[in-house]
Amino acid sequence: MHRKNFIKLSGLSVGALVVNGSITSFILSCIGCRKDSHIGLITKPVMVSEGNFSTLLSFPAQAGAIHTLTAQSTTTNLKGKTIPVLGYQPNSLLGPTFRVNNGNTVNILLQNNLSEQTNIHWHGLKIPALMDGHPEQLANAGGLFRYQYTVNQRAGLCWYHPHPHEKTGKQVFQGLAGLFIINDNEEASLNLPSGQYEIPLIIQDKRIINNSITYNPSMEEVMAGYMGESIIVNGVYSPYTEVATRYYRLRILNGSNARMYNLSFSNNADMILIGNDGGLLKNPITLKEILIAPGERLDVLINFSGAAIGTEIFLVSKEFAHGGNAQGKQYFRILKFKVTSAATDSFIVPSNLSNLNIISASSAVKIRTFDISNAMEHHGYPMNNGMQMRHRINGKLFDSNRIDENIIANTNEVWIFDNSKGDEPHPMHLHGVFFQVLDRTGGRGSKIASENGWKDTVLVMPGEIVKILVPFEKNTGRFVFHCHNLEHEDDGMMLQYQLS
Ligand code: C2O
Ligand code: CU
Repeated sequence: MHRKNFIKLSGLSVGALVVNGSITSFILSCIGCRKDSHIGLITKPVMVSEGNFSTLLSFPAQAGAIHTLTAQSTTTNLKGKTIPVLGYQPNSLLGPTFRVNNGNTVNILLQNNLSEQTNIHWHGLKIPALMDGHPEQLANAGGLFRYQYTVNQRAGLCWYHPHPHEKTGKQVFQGLAGLFIINDNEEASLNLPSGQYEIPLIIQDKRIINNSITYNPSMEEVMAGYMGESIIVNGVYSPYTEVATRYYRLRILNGSNARMYNLSFSNNADMILIGNDGGLLKNPITLKEILIAPGERLDVLINFSGAAIGTEIFLVSKEFAHGGNAQGKQYFRILKFKVTSAATDSFIVPSNLSNLNIISASSAVKIRTFDISNAMEHHGYPMNNGMQMRHRINGKLFDSNRIDENIIANTNEVWIFDNSKGDEPHPMHLHGVFFQVLDRTGGRGSKIASENGWKDTVLVMPGEIVKILVPFEKNTGRFVFHCHNLEHEDDGMMLQYQLS
């Protein structure tokens, strides 16, 4: 049930509402609500239930710069059952991994075989506005959309997914997403582990009930974001993969609608972070754990060379703080690495990865502040005052007929995301640009390791204010920016900027 309808119903008697379980719990949880307290929607974690890590991890098919991408309803095997999903041919769940070189011209035809509109946002690509997958640029059911653009950016792990407003969450959750890898000479010169030693990992959670991927968020689930009990990697539930005693490069996307992961290895092995959303960092950073929010990417090296044959090491998600009521409460395993063969490996982690062209904050010509706390909606408002509880930015819901911010091409700006009064995490994503994270106050209190270099999505936890420096470039037109919790985005937590 959507909250808009709920507001209308809220004047009805409780007896009329108890037919719906989630509404019932809402009514009960709101008994005793104080006027100045949280309005009473109790968001809670969706606990992960682990499988037995006995299915071999597989990898999406690879595709080049010229391709037809057919979005379709299909089936896949999950948890031993054949279940209906969405996917892009030839995959069942998910879509092919595109691999292109900087400078290549891409020509990808989207064939929409779904029964509703869809489109593709190329998340992390700096391309013209009309190619970017704006929620208004859609392929009708049975229709086509041709994406044609030249890749002009450094190496990195980007991804793609649908972006039709109010349907993004459902289409992604039911299976539509894929990777887009850009290579360049700078990266190639590092001789990082490649081929079978470069492992792409799309981490997602799914809710699998009655042999289908259920997508039907309740009010609480629009608040927290929609999460599932089943963790899949590259579309495989509870997978394992075999590795040799050498370095591997893990290229990780959090492709979940709302779930965050605090990634770590079960044997406490070093994670050597070499890249993020926008490609390589300047220098590698050695870590024991790293948080990844929906939409974010990580590039990580792990060295299995010390491990005895037969060792099993898990990629896990550890508990973490600041995640609001619904996240960070559980340790769970994601993927099993089985060390099965010996290898000799001459790879040495380079101490310099990349010449990052860092820009100075003093070059900013404008500062814009975005209130993402949604404090008015979530605190202190009685249920029956007609105020709709929705996710907004600066008090506004998405409206494709309204330009929210006008920006001059080729200028730098500071943007401030203020979640200081909020109680939900918001991973904020800007289309069409990469930015630098300048600083964070409140909450976690400082930048984290993966926020060096270039980003296109930054996590703003409850209580936090995060400042970013955004160099806007030359691709003029209308772009969106939004929370990448897809339930928040579909609920309206998205605005538009016009670059001219
Ligand atoms: Cu991956 Cu507009 O988002
Ligand atoms: Cu959000």
